[in-house]
Amino acid sequence: MVSVGLIGVGGMGSTHFKILKDLGIKVTAISDVDESRLAEYSKMGIKTFKDYTKMLDEGGFDGVIIATPPNLHTEQTVYALRRGYYVFLEKPMASDLEGARRIYDEARGKGRLMIGFTLRFHKLYIMVKDLLDSRLGKPVVMWHIALGTMPKTGWLRDKGVSGGILNEHGVHVLYQYYWYAGRVREVYADAVTITSGITVEDNVTVFMKHENGATSIFHLSWSGGHNWRRWGLTAERGRVTVDGYVDGDYMVSDLNGNVIEKGNFNESIIHAYVDEVRHFINCIENNERPIINEEDGYHVQQIV
Ligand SMILES: NC(=O)c1ccc[n+]([C@@H]2O[C@H](COP(=O)([O-])OP(=O)(O)OC[C@H]3O[C@@H](n4cnc5c(N)ncnc54)[C@H](O)[C@@H]3O)[C@@H](O)[C@H]2O)c1
Repeated sequence: MVSVGLIGVGGMGSTHFKILKDLGIKVTAISDVDESRLAEYSKMGIKTFKDYTKMLDEGGFDGVIIATPPNLHTEQTVYALRRGYYVFLEKPMASDLEGARRIYDEARGKGRLMIGFTLRFHKLYIMVKDLLDSRLGKPVVMWHIALGTMPKTGWLRDKGVSGGILNEHGVHVLYQYYWYAGRVREVYADAVTITSGITVEDNVTVFMKHENGATSIFHLSWSGGHNWRRWGLTAERGRVTVDGYVDGDYMVSDLNGNVIEKGNFNESIIHAYVDEVRHFINCIENNERPIINEEDGYHVQQIV
């Protein structure tokens, strides 16, 4: 039976903990620098560590989930991979390209690193990918407008920690574009900061050309007062529109305007998180390479 260690049990790490528990996967060790968080887990009989290196040195688990702020990802992931663990690293791969390159170099050839680009496991995004492959053909233009507000988490506003909002949040969409249309050849982008007291961009606009000729457009804003989000694409043989991000009304039509699929998707994102963790566990059990790995993480970091 596979067991797991967790590094970072804040928002995302504690979600992973609940998912693992529900899946019946034993969490044998937890590391966090926040002692009050650690205390909750030691009450459950789990070994806790303030220093993640001690946890990884001591072992007693097969895989590690790392859910700490991005500027810590490089050191923690490289350390874990060197000790032979399977690693599920939360997105983004790192806070900068150099850090991502170090992870990539360590992970290459091992087949043990997974990066948490959740949309790969989200049923709406999977449905659209399947429709592209089966009926709609190659994407020609993909687009996404994401207007939101600055999240409360303090470290997100610090460029040195998060790597910026395109890195911290926009990577989900950049990964989706890469998944749908393949590697990116050129990127044009503009970033502006309106909110005072932050070192990250709060408005970013990206225009990309993929190697296969497809175009992707992405505008992400966190400086506004209300949320509004839409995405979609035009492909060789049809069109997709979604009135939302991970939920909302969607429509798929062919070039003549005949509706292929239409509906409202309202499944909680938690299902994608569960499938993501399940994939990681299956890879450990079967000694397989995760479907989202260092190649994907590094290419997305290059785009950022
Ligand atoms: N896949 C998704 O949809 C998704 C959603 C949210 C967050 N995330 C990612 O998860 C990661 C964590 O984000 P979060 O929102 O949970 O942040 P968070 O601030 O809520 O949690 C981070 C945790 O890491 C701990 N930590 C800090 N330094 C540490 C160290 N040296 N060793 C061990 N623990 C340490 C903190 O004490 C905290 O408990 C980020 O990379 C973020 O991008 C992914």
